[in-house]
This record gives sequence, C-alpha cells and structure tokens, in this order.
Amino acid sequence: MSAAPDDVLARELAYHERLYSGFAQAHFARPAVRALRAHMAQRILEASGAGPDSRVLSLGCGIGDTELLLAPHVREIVGVDLSPAAIRQARADASRLGIHNACFEEGSSCAGSFDAVIAIFFLHHLPDSELAALPARLAQTLSPGGAFYSLDPSRARLSGIVGRKLIPGLMKKYQTPDERELDGETAAALFSRTGFDVRVEMYDFGSSPLAGLFPGWRFGYRVARRLDDAILRLPALRKRGSNFELRGVLAR
Ligand SMILES: C[S@@+](CC[C@H](N)C(=O)[O-])C[C@H]1O[C@@H](n2cnc3c(N)ncnc32)[C@H](O)[C@@H]1O
Repeated sequence: MSAAPDDVLARELAYHERLYSGFAQAHFARPAVRALRAHMAQRILEASGAGPDSRVLSLGCGIGDTELLLAPHVREIVGVDLSPAAIRQARADASRLGIHNACFEEGSSCAGSFDAVIAIFFLHHLPDSELAALPARLAQTLSPGGAFYSLDPSRARLSGIVGRKLIPGLMKKYQTPDERELDGETAAALFSRTGFDVRVEMYDFGSSPLAGLFPGWRFGYRVARRLDDAILRLPALRKRGSNFELRGVLAR
C-alpha cells in the first residue's frame, strides 16, 4: 500500500529543511555541480523552447540555482517549493545577484498561465496519486502549445544498481524516505493520456552521479559529460542511463 500523500509531504519537508540548512548551499556551489547546472540550463532552454518572451514555472525549485541561471534568458521565472528554507535561500540569491525577473514562493503550484513548466528532480518525489494527477493540473497552468520539461532518475539506471551495491549508505543519505526512481515510458504515458505530445530522452549516463560524488572536480565532470554524449548514442547503454527527460508539448 502506498503512503498517504500528507505523510509523504511531511517527510519531504523535514528532509529538505535539513538539506537546505547549509549542506545543499555548500554542495551546489562546488565547481562540478555548477558546471552540471549550466549544462542543464542550456538543455532546458533548448528542450522547452523558452525564450525572452516566456513566462516559466519551476516546480520543486529547491534553492533556485537552476532558475537563476535561466532567468536572464526568459521574461519571468517563478519557482515554487515546499521548503521555506529553500525559498529563503533562492530569494536571497536572486537579490544578491540583482535578478529581478525571478520570484520564489512556498507551495506546489502557482496561479496564472505559463508558457513552460519545468520540474527538475521533482516528479520522483511525488506520491503516485499526485504524479498521476499532475498532467491534468499542468494542462490548466500551461498556455496552449506550452511546453513541459522534467528530469528524473531512471529506474533502469546502471549507476543506481552499482551505487546500491558499493555505497548504499551514501545513496540513502542523499534520498528522502519516499522518493523512488521512475520508469520513463510509464511517466510519459501519464502525460500523453492528458493530451501532451510527449517524448522521453536520456539526459546522461555517468556525468550527474560523478558531479554528486566529486563535486569539486569540474574537469572530471566535463570529460564525463563528453563521454556521455558518445555513450548515449549506443541504444544498449542509453537504456541504462542515469536520468531521463520528459519533453512534452500541450496540444493546442
Ligand atoms: C530533489 S529536490 C530538487 C530541487 C531542485 N529542483 C534541484 O534541482 O536541486 C526536490 C524538491 O522538491 C520539493 N518538493 C517535494 N515535494 C514537493 C511538493 N509536493 N510540492 C512542492 N515541492 C516539493 C522539495 O522540497 C525539494 O526541494
């Protein structure tokens, strides 16, 4: 039986309040993680088609480090997150960087209409019932022809299988009690039945896990990213990739 959504929410909140009380800020500022975020931001812009006229919503934005990289490229970006500590940090960083077109709110949704909605490492934190209900919710939030982009760990990832064998303690430390890897095609089906034209792409093979394990090693991350671009052309290895993207467009 799956856990009640309110219990999941309470555990997610408790975990992330701890994570964002210092560790995440220090970890996300390391060079390899910064390089990963920069790559991610470029990928989001390309995949979502978001540009200078776009209003973008980010679900589960955390401390907003990806959103602040996206802000100069879009008209407005709104980040929402359950965690007050995350929202405080995102607001402080926006103000320190002089970014005025990014705003951050506590919560899971935002009123108004958006040209693109992104969800970075977010869907796999939602209870099954909330994940199933999300596409219909997004259909109300997105303007016609609007784009959805998400990034989540794949259930078939080789890095997960190896990590659970070699560093089970560390894997657990970096995960909330309720999150789980997702099957890309199953997640995509939830969106296509709601009228999204959706496709699944593999984002990486080893570069994100490497950045997590060796956050100070920017050179290593860059080499791993280049290798990933070659590895992901091989279907047998692509299936075992670490994180998958959903790229969806809402039918007009
Ligand atoms: C793995 S973190 C990803 C954060 C950020 N997107 C990033 O890439 O670093 C998942 C985030 O989702 C938030 N979260 C989890 N469940 C949520 C919900 N139901 N509504 C809003 N935020 C939620 C957590 O507080 C956390 O910040």
